[in-house]
Amino acid sequence: MTVKNFKNLKNKRKIVMLTAYDSIFSSLFADTVDAILVGDSLNMSFNGNDDTLNITLDEMIYHSKAVKRGSKDTMVILDLPFGTYTNKKEAFKSAKKAYQKAGVGAIKLEGGEEKADIVKYLCDNNIAVMGHIGLLPQKVRNLGGYFIVGKDEESKQQLLKDAKAIELAGVFAIIIEGVVKETASFIAKNINIPLIGIGSGNEVDGQVLVYTDMLGLYEKFTPKFSRKYANISNVVRESVQKYKEDVLNSNFPNDKESF
Ligand code: KIV
Repeated sequence: MTVKNFKNLKNKRKIVMLTAYDSIFSSLFADTVDAILVGDSLNMSFNGNDDTLNITLDEMIYHSKAVKRGSKDTMVILDLPFGTYTNKKEAFKSAKKAYQKAGVGAIKLEGGEEKADIVKYLCDNNIAVMGHIGLLPQKVRNLGGYFIVGKDEESKQQLLKDAKAIELAGVFAIIIEGVVKETASFIAKNINIPLIGIGSGNEVDGQVLVYTDMLGLYEKFTPKFSRKYANISNVVRESVQKYKEDVLNSNFPNDKESF
């Protein structure tokens, strides 16, 4: 999937994205999804931290390289971490490193109107950029929590300004997170690039989910908007328990499993 093909999916069919943080899962997702996001959510749902803020670009690159190894032809997008795109030069340096070291097809960054000049600079220098508006997890310490956005007219109009500003700056698609359904639907109808929702209802151009939520692997917290399609944690626990019993009873390994 190229950025151009991805963009052209708008108004044709819904776009399907998942996060992945390693090659095992990216190889399982690659044939089915349109793009894989190496989200900085990995700092919480894979690395066990309380928020996304202390992951480094080098760590994101390490995970993206692993994801790329399993991703076949599926586009991989690296999420620029907190503090790596505060100005044009720094953003380009980070994106260039992501391109050259991880070989990803695009980067994602959080922010709307206030980040438009940075987005434009990246796009003008041939970096494919995915935007991210609405609830921005990299603002969590500043705001003191995660809050749903787009509840009133003022917030709805600001989101539209954000989406239009980064569309004009050159992003090929935008993720909209934690926004009330009607507002997200309104934004999707008023831009010409795909709007991919997470926790933003089903009247957008596609969906992205954090795979550790949708497979039931992350047990600390399951967001209201996520759907558990499996409960892999239980499968893992039962398997490890069975393995333990087999070892304790000398049932593992058996003769076929021995030399
Ligand atoms: O980091 C991430 O996984 C994300 C998604 C929530 C879109 O940005």
